[in-house]
Amino acid sequence: MKKASPSLLPELSQRDPIPAKVGIFGLGYVGLTTAACLIENGISVEGYEVSPQKQQLLKKGICPISEPGVQALIEKAVREGRFCVKDFPDGNKLPDLILICVGTPSTSNGSTDLRHVKKVFRQLNQLSAENPSFGTELIIRSTIPPGTLDMLRKLCPRLFVRVPVAFYPEFLREGTALEDFHSPPQSIIGSIPSLPKPKKIFSLLASFTFQTPVTHVNAVTAESLKFACNAYHAVKVSFANEIGRWITSLGGDPLEVMELFCRDTKLNTSSKYLRPGNPFGGSCLLKDTRSMLQLGKKRGINMPMIEHCLTSNQDHFKFIDAAIRSHKPRIVTILGIAFKKDSDDIRESPSVRLLRMLTAKKRCRVIGHDFMVKKETAIGVNQLLQNQLFQIPNFSLEESIKKALEGTDLVLIMHNDLRYSQAVAKLPVPVLNVVSWQGFQSCG
Ligand SMILES: NC(=O)c1ccc[n+]([C@@H]2O[C@H](COP(=O)([O-])OP(=O)(O)OC[C@H]3O[C@@H](n4cnc5c(N)ncnc54)[C@H](O)[C@@H]3O)[C@@H](O)[C@H]2O)c1
Repeated sequence: MKKASPSLLPELSQRDPIPAKVGIFGLGYVGLTTAACLIENGISVEGYEVSPQKQQLLKKGICPISEPGVQALIEKAVREGRFCVKDFPDGNKLPDLILICVGTPSTSNGSTDLRHVKKVFRQLNQLSAENPSFGTELIIRSTIPPGTLDMLRKLCPRLFVRVPVAFYPEFLREGTALEDFHSPPQSIIGSIPSLPKPKKIFSLLASFTFQTPVTHVNAVTAESLKFACNAYHAVKVSFANEIGRWITSLGGDPLEVMELFCRDTKLNTSSKYLRPGNPFGGSCLLKDTRSMLQLGKKRGINMPMIEHCLTSNQDHFKFIDAAIRSHKPRIVTILGIAFKKDSDDIRESPSVRLLRMLTAKKRCRVIGHDFMVKKETAIGVNQLLQNQLFQIPNFSLEESIKKALEGTDLVLIMHNDLRYSQAVAKLPVPVLNVVSWQGFQSCG
């Protein structure tokens, strides 16, 4: 199984034949758009739908949802006999592949209601028990929370050892669903590693005119990714709207500002700042975020999302602190004291904040090391801050990594520096590497 690097589709010789008929559970926005695109690609579709009203309309070739381009494709396919609708698959004429696109709405407490997905799986489990030749590959396209595939495996253990079951998250947007289907950003297939591997879905993907990077990952990765994407889109919209309200209150033009903002594809609309790791700190982000919030408040503008970035950052310190606490160390070594690698700037440095948390109430002794932070070269505000740093009881800064590691109970790596990872490679104590997110596996 590939680990988060896009793989090409399997070579032709390794592929299963392209499925001639695909079944789809749930003929709503996702199910019908998918049906339309499969039909367009010469594949026959059998749809299974619980709503009698939808069934009636579809049998007449009338599409019950409004989505550009879908009506014409469905109508033509019904006329040509390449699309039929029924309650449930016929055990004697099973499709090679079934896509599950039933709804997964919110429950009253905000969790995902998996009732429809579970019902489909119970029914398919029963169908497979009654059919010794049942070999249909099952692919979930409904959005499911992390852990769902595993939960379904426990619900239908025999089904999962018999046929491949995978999650293939859908990234289409209503209104441009056909267009999105034909040019998806990427295709992710998630499955449980120890169980039968999906094959037919790869052949189906290879049959499309579009060629998208396909990555086969662990089920939990695919399930989490879909939620991360939707949350990120929600964050982007809220961010843009908060910035819009703030700029308007200041007499500026938010559209112009955000247009220019998006032109910066190096830092703004890029993969920069999108790796889990250090809390943010340094001389600018905290200072300017606080100032921005103050400016807004004076004008009656609330920016709860941006404001909560500060709370979120505090929570990240608590998360790292809890991970350290779980090892009950008396001596902690922090490698990297400046706010980032190759800098001597310790203004609002996350490392300094952490070492203050650790040394408070004599909890731990902290030994620090940094290649750039040196008493003799500090100047200006950093000289002042260093003086305060060296007055912290139970903290010392060592000049050599070797000395900083002597007698330590735990190492915290705060800078992405090969010299640090090499130095701790054979150390018999716990190492928490904040930059590469190592040592946090059991924390949540
Ligand atoms: N709509 C989108 O833009 C979009 C995009 C990406 C992912 N998704 C996800 O895809 C899934 C489907 O979304 P949708 O918008 O198409 O939902 P929808 O409500 O429009 O359609 C779901 C359909 O499933 C049917 N259904 C329910 N139980 C069934 C069963 N046991 N057998 C057969 N049919 C059954 C319902 O009657 C309904 O027609 C959801 O999990 C959603 O989160 C939606």
